[in-house]
Amino acid sequence: MSTFLITGTAGFIGSHLAERLLAQGHVVVGLDNFDAFYDPAVKRANIGRALQNMNFTLVEGDIRDGDLVAQVLRDSRVNTVIHLAARAGVRPSIEEPLLYEDVNVRGTLAVLQAMRETGVSRMLFASSSSVYGNRERVPFAETDSVDHPVSPYAATKKAGELLAYTFSHLYGMNIWCLRFFTVYGPRQRPEMAIAKFLRAARNGSTVTVFGDGSMQRDFTYINDIIDGVTRALDHIDGYEIVNIGGAHAYPLTRLLDLIEEVTGVTLERLHEPVPAGDVKQTVADTRRAKDLFGYEPKWSLKDGIQAQWEWMEKSDEG
Ligand SMILES: NC(=O)c1ccc[n+]([C@@H]2O[C@H](COP(=O)([O-])OP(=O)(O)OC[C@H]3O[C@@H](n4cnc5c(N)ncnc54)[C@H](O)[C@@H]3O)[C@@H](O)[C@H]2O)c1
Repeated sequence: MSTFLITGTAGFIGSHLAERLLAQGHVVVGLDNFDAFYDPAVKRANIGRALQNMNFTLVEGDIRDGDLVAQVLRDSRVNTVIHLAARAGVRPSIEEPLLYEDVNVRGTLAVLQAMRETGVSRMLFASSSSVYGNRERVPFAETDSVDHPVSPYAATKKAGELLAYTFSHLYGMNIWCLRFFTVYGPRQRPEMAIAKFLRAARNGSTVTVFGDGSMQRDFTYINDIIDGVTRALDHIDGYEIVNIGGAHAYPLTRLLDLIEEVTGVTLERLHEPVPAGDVKQTVADTRRAKDLFGYEPKWSLKDGIQAQWEWMEKSDEG
């Protein structure tokens, strides 16, 4: 049994991870400031099930408050930090780059510094496929150059990886950076594509298709992400960067076709130019994750969309 601190525990990924670790018999302390990036009530609902577990404690606070993070680490005798708290999303980071830098870079530094002060030496850091920028060659491997991020969000995630490396080097911390590829499933952030398209199918509204719809994404179902994270937790040693993806690319048009198949609704598609900061494609090379901790994505996109749709219908979310 271990004690984990999950930052960003009330978010989409953090709430699923808390439930999985609790189900495995671990103790989980969750830290979240319920920021207004999307409705905090959604986050309260996300974390409802974890809160019923006696092994879960919720601390409401900000990762940039280093004293608070250190106090939590010390008081709860945390073994490992899973650092998910961030301002997510590519497009809003173009509007508010200073805020993204503050939360994602300074916040990550505050967490690392608190770990150093309290002697906590193991961390998983949520990085992102966006660090690869506009690469032509796919799939994206961890050895590829990531020197050309095309949004402030991507740059902050790259900065987080660099700071993690520095702390690992200076203080012998064991830190793995997991690059998640477009995660979806129940509780997905409301501004993400699949959540928006399913909402449009339910409400009979128009969907916006960027460009000609050929933009491709590697979508990863939440259960595969959580499998990857929990497997990685058993192996953290030294510093590593590891892709966690679905390992298949789907053009936007194919995604919309699948959404129509699952929902039985024909979507009216409105074409708009591709927004600045969006990359043309993402595809994960997941061989390193397989070699290091036996990760293999299992969910097909269609099954995952079906599960998200059923959750939405049942929970009245979105
Ligand atoms: N969802 C994806 O497709 C995806 C892909 C790549 C990387 N990631 C990364 O995974 C992590 C989780 O993403 P998510 O989709 O669950 O996002 P999310 O927005 O649902 O969750 C993030 C949580 O962090 C909290 N938070 C934000 N700022 C905070 C602060 N200063 N102090 C404390 N808590 C704070 C938010 O309230 C929220 O509950 C993020 O780091 C994100 O960048 C997500």
